[in-house]
Amino acid sequence: MSKEGKSMTEVTQISAADAVGRIRKTYPVTPDAAVILGSGVNVLEGLQNSIVLSYTDLFGHAPSVAGHSGTLTIGRLGSGAADPLVAVFRGRFHLYEGYSWDMVSLGARTVVEWGVPNLFVTNAAGGLNLEFNVGDLMVLTGYRDHLSPKWKSEGLLPAVMAPATVCANKQTEKLLSVGAKLAAEDSRFRGLRQGVYAGLLGPSYETMAEIDMLRKLQCDAVGMSTVPELLVCETSKTACCAVSVITNVWKPDEVMGGHEEVLEASKAASRRLDLLFRRILVEK
Ligand code: HPA
Repeated sequence: MSKEGKSMTEVTQISAADAVGRIRKTYPVTPDAAVILGSGVNVLEGLQNSIVLSYTDLFGHAPSVAGHSGTLTIGRLGSGAADPLVAVFRGRFHLYEGYSWDMVSLGARTVVEWGVPNLFVTNAAGGLNLEFNVGDLMVLTGYRDHLSPKWKSEGLLPAVMAPATVCANKQTEKLLSVGAKLAAEDSRFRGLRQGVYAGLLGPSYETMAEIDMLRKLQCDAVGMSTVPELLVCETSKTACCAVSVITNVWKPDEVMGGHEEVLEASKAASRRLDLLFRRILVEK
């Protein structure tokens, strides 16, 4: 059920073309890049000459998950007309909230329809790689799709048998090289991790059997989003890359951190991610 008490199947679906039409009425210029932010991830505050649209006005809905404000901000990184123009989508819709595939992919489809050349996707994820620490940033070099509706009819076995999809492209490489530069320049910038993200349906976190399975499948992190955005962009002109904020690590004998610890780690990770995005957006 949605917040308004409607079942998701009753929800009116807005097309990506409609959403772009609504944006262009308010802001006629196409951005250089777009960013979709996951739960608790906050970057690119204080854009210049910015406008804000609510998801309710844009998509007809607001995300119901805490930590997602449900707004699109469009603005420049600096005060000059030549400074990069960025669109920041704060929040997303999830399958586990009961939304359709069309709805969960609407943000990315809007970015593609708008003609934005680069999309940066972020998410909060659990770390499977035992070398990871809470608060690490992991650049996705591959992903496993265990959530898209195509598995509904076939069962998950083909998804489990399939190899991970590689998602390295020029933007991914740039993220990694800019991250390496920042780490070399500033000891407070923790080096970036890289690895394979597994997208699962949720809504609950994984069982230990699933964690074991995902490790056997050589996944480094697990979450419940991002795969829709990557899939949409694969067949488009928009180059998409993604970063996970590791909010917990699945270690056998360790108790997971409490809410406060996770929030603190996410805030520190967001500050590093902010530096990374600002740098990558200005670097040619
Ligand atoms: N599993 C799935 N999604 C998540 C996790 C996790 O451990 N942590 C943050 N999002």
